[in-house]
Amino acid sequence: MHDYQATADWAAARDAADPLRTFRDEFLIPPHRDRQDQSHEGVYFCGNSLGLQPRAVRDAVTAELDYWGELGVEGHFKGRLPWMDYHENLRDDLASLLGAEADEVVAMNTLGVNLHLMMVSFYRPTDARPTILIEAGAFPTDRYAVESQIRFHGFDPASCLIELEADEPNGILSTAAIERALAEHGSRIALVMLPGVQYRTGQAFDLKTITALAHRHGCTVGFDLAHAVGNLPLQLHDSGADFAIWCSYKYLNGGPGAVGGAFIHQRHARGDLPRFAGWWGHDKATRFQMGPQFDPTPGAEGWQLSNPPILALAPLRISLEMFRRAGMPALREKSLQLTGYLEWLVRSELADLLEVVTPTDPQRRGAQLSIRVIAGRAAGRALFDHLVAHGIIGDWREPDVIRISPTPLYNRFADCLAFADAVRAWDRTRR
Ligand SMILES: Cc1ncc(COP(=O)(O)O)c(C=O)c1O
Repeated sequence: MHDYQATADWAAARDAADPLRTFRDEFLIPPHRDRQDQSHEGVYFCGNSLGLQPRAVRDAVTAELDYWGELGVEGHFKGRLPWMDYHENLRDDLASLLGAEADEVVAMNTLGVNLHLMMVSFYRPTDARPTILIEAGAFPTDRYAVESQIRFHGFDPASCLIELEADEPNGILSTAAIERALAEHGSRIALVMLPGVQYRTGQAFDLKTITALAHRHGCTVGFDLAHAVGNLPLQLHDSGADFAIWCSYKYLNGGPGAVGGAFIHQRHARGDLPRFAGWWGHDKATRFQMGPQFDPTPGAEGWQLSNPPILALAPLRISLEMFRRAGMPALREKSLQLTGYLEWLVRSELADLLEVVTPTDPQRRGAQLSIRVIAGRAAGRALFDHLVAHGIIGDWREPDVIRISPTPLYNRFADCLAFADAVRAWDRTRR
């Protein structure tokens, strides 16, 4: 049950009572001159694309620049957090955010690179089992990556790539459809590769159930968590997934092009899976003996190639520390309320203009609502431009969808109301 009301007083009271409200002050909120409150803060709903900058990031990056200036190469061993083991400072926070063991996660590279590295290990096609199963309408990187891997192994995507069509309205793919596809093609499927949250519709997938189904058919399972990490509570270890990859610039607020990450389930930690190797994946105890024989660090860190980019890890370290302080259960609780409020506003106040395409069931979605503009593309673009001009930042997905993601670390109930008010104001300008 909820007590939502479409009034400024109600939204202000809810914001004042929010136990996480002070986290907003830890972010730089992009300004907008037309916003009427004193701070002129814009209304930022784009955490699904690029999360905002935590204020502490500047000092964290400057500190590493200073160490570099003062210590040169010695910075690898000196300073508050010596660079040699810097990535390890992120490990525990990352693991707890993902519901993983510490040796199952590593912050490294970017999403697309990690996806390819993981497929080197986990997509091992044979003549009898050459196929990859993905969703139709997968994010282009995922589509390109799986297709190029199939070709790389000498197979033909025309016959070895299954793109599962949505079977529910609005592009939603049911677990039952995945189950049917596995029942029909499972014995030929090498890898099932699905998102944690679908980027276009905002649909959340049930990782554990999908993994169990796919494993029953002998397939390996990987998840693209770009839109799930920092958005939904995850229990990756318990899900049993073989691997997962993610980027850190969305809900994780790691900054543009931030260092991504990979999860490799513990049962593969010491296995002899093929992998592409680099010196930073070598056992750290003997790495500097510089021997010719690659002896991997057990666990996900054994998949590292290069020494990590410290200036890029510093923001991520700050961000993960904020997630630790806020706690994912509290963030999710607020997220359910915030997104629930936005959905209620759309359905109760704006139903003649907008339609939510993201699943109604909160268990099947995270923060994001994908909102279709009923009047179509031209009106949708005009509305989107109106919102941007009034400092309300979401993003546009062709042909007629605006994605709005209330992010519990820095969004407010008042922001959701500002969105609804701006849509109504735009509608008045058309009459
Ligand atoms: C689902 C999904 N996969 C992959 C990517 C691309 O990741 P990157 O450019 O960091 O490799 C994105 C980026 O938005 C995404 O949303």
